[in-house]
Formats: sequence, C-alpha cells, structure tokens
Amino acid sequence: MMKPTLLRSLVLPLTLAVAGLFTAARAQDVVVGEFASLTGSEATFGINSNNGLQLALEEINAGGGLLNGRKVKVIVEDDQSKAGQAAAAVKKLIASDQVIAIIGEIASSRSLEAAPICQSASIPMISPGSTNPTVTDKGDYIFRVCFIDPFQGTVMAKFALDNLKAKKVAVLTDVKSDYSRGLAQFFEDYFKAHGGEIVKELAYNGGDKDFRAQLTTIKGANPDAIFVPGYYTEVGSIGKQARLLGIKVPLLGGDGWDSPKLLEIAGNSLEGCYFSTHFSPDDQSPKVQDFVKKYKAKFNAAPDGMAPLGYDAMMILADAIKTAGTTDGAKVRDALAQVKNYAAVTGNITIDDKRNATKSAVVLQVQGKAIKYTSTVAP
Ligand code: PHE
Repeated sequence: MMKPTLLRSLVLPLTLAVAGLFTAARAQDVVVGEFASLTGSEATFGINSNNGLQLALEEINAGGGLLNGRKVKVIVEDDQSKAGQAAAAVKKLIASDQVIAIIGEIASSRSLEAAPICQSASIPMISPGSTNPTVTDKGDYIFRVCFIDPFQGTVMAKFALDNLKAKKVAVLTDVKSDYSRGLAQFFEDYFKAHGGEIVKELAYNGGDKDFRAQLTTIKGANPDAIFVPGYYTEVGSIGKQARLLGIKVPLLGGDGWDSPKLLEIAGNSLEGCYFSTHFSPDDQSPKVQDFVKKYKAKFNAAPDGMAPLGYDAMMILADAIKTAGTTDGAKVRDALAQVKNYAAVTGNITIDDKRNATKSAVVLQVQGKAIKYTSTVAP
C-alpha cells in the first residue's frame, strides 16, 4: 500500500497537469461573440438568428473546426431588444471574452450602436439582417450579409404601384427605429418619383400599444394601401386596430414583419397583406430545402428569414477565417471584404465596396394561418 502522503504527492501534480492540458485546449478555441435580442419585443429576431447560427456552428465543428482543428466557440449576449444594451453587450464580448469577431444584430438601431465599438477595437462585425444603409458606414470592419433598404423600399413601392395599382398610400413609421425611418423614406422616394402620392405620414414609437389616433387620421385620408415599415409586435397590433376601425385596404411592410409571432398577434387582421423579406421556406432550391430540413429536425419549426441569415453570417465568417489563415482582425476583415459569389442559403453573396451584400428580396403574403411566397425581386 502506498502511503497517503505519497499518493497525494503523485495525485496533485497529475491533476494540475491534466487541468493544464484542458486550459491549453480551451485557449485554442476560436472565440466568436454574438449579440442578439433573445428576449423583449423583437425576441424572435434574436432567437431565430441564433438558432441558425448554432446550426452553422455545429456543422463547422463537426467538419473539424478552423485553422487546423481549432473548435469554434460562440459566446452569446442577450441585449433584450433594448437601446443601450447592444453597446454593453459588445463591450463585454470584446473586453472580457476577447472575441475575435462579432455577429449581430438584426435590428439596425442596435447594430448602429455596436458598430463604432467594434470598429474602434478592430474587431470585424457581421450583421445578419440590419438593412439600414448607414450601418456599414461606421467603418471598414463592419459588414452585413443582407440587402439594404434603398433596395427593399423600392421593391415594396414598385409592388404597390404595379401589383396593387395603388396611387395613394399612407405611411406609418416607428420614429424610434433607424430601420423604420429609413425604409419609409426609400419607399416614399420611389413611390412619389413614379407617380404615386403619399397622402399621410404618421408616426409611432416602438413599444406603443395604441395606434387608433394615427389610424383614424389615415382612414380619413382614404389611401389605397398603408405602408408600415415596423417590427412584428407593433405591426400585429396596428393590423388589429386598423380592422376594428373599419380600414379595409391592404397593409404593406418590410422584413420587420418576418416573425412566427406576427400572425399570433395580428389574428386574421393581416389577411392578404404583403411584406418583403430575405427568404422563403417555400423556395424549392436544394440549398434552401436542405436548410429547411436540417432546421426542422433540430428546432421542430419552420425557419423564418432570420434563421438562414444567422446561419449565413456564421458560415461566411468561418470561411473568411479560413481564407485569412488567422484570427487576426485586420486579416479577417480583408478576407470578408473579398467574399465573392458565396452560395449562401439566402442567395449568392458578394460583398461590395461598402461591405454590403447585393441580393434578391422575396415578397410574401399572409394567407390564412400561413405566410406564402409570391415572388422574387432581383436587385
Ligand atoms: N432589417 C431589419 C432592420 O434593419 C431587421 C430584420 C432583418 C427583421 C431580417 C427581420 C428579418 O432593423
């Protein structure tokens, strides 16, 4: 029998050695940060983009990781859909977690808040879904994998003119949201330049619950359609209240409507209404159908537009790290700037000189309890 002291003297160094090995292995992980609205009024944006990202992460690690077998680890921070929290989240990810790149956000206002912080720390940031054009103006480390609102606004203005034959449109904007204000402007510019008339422009604040005053004014102006470039929580209530006030014309919107919660909130009030977004699970291309299958198997739900954007953002980052051959911020940035014709789930991605992706949009329609694909609009 070994004496207890001798045993101890053997066990301790061994434990330390094993612990040391683990720390060394962990230090090798490629650590990426993500900030997302996992809770709060835009929770489905954060949850579903994170779901997509996790799916990509699993595939990357199952395929051997990056840079000669290093695993990728993603640290997720919840910004609670709140102003101020996005900045706090990225500061924490950069300073304490020492992430080498950041993925986020969906909502443009929160990406705008975080972008200058990532830029000044030389940490590449990729937004999966922020479409306001000014997001990537924050600097050469700021990228996105989606189209931008000068395009999206045009898509819906053209749709109102050509498909709905609308001549008079009212616009109801969330003035707290950079996304909403921008998209309203781009819609109006195109609509007016092509013979349409904006009969009313009204405002609300994200978080509002009562839209009856604005809707009553809009009803008085007798528009052919109402453009509501907001997020699903408010849009759902706006739809309901519009119908209760006897407004019968279609409501139109952008990708901010894209949520499995939209119809839960709106009931049947948005029947027949249209919005533009990045993706439809009805798309029969093998790339999309393969993603839909994998997503359903893992999350037991059909993906909305955010899910494949989160997936694409993670995949493109992994690809750029591979191309760069390092996690060095400046080199990963250079690799991201050179992404060309990348076959993503949401379409082919080429990063342009403003670090945006030029891609098609889809127009979807509410039909009963489902949201159905109607058409694709190329840039
Ligand atoms: N484009 C929206 C914004 O910039 C966010 C969004 C993206 C919403 C994708 C839904 C789907 O704020």
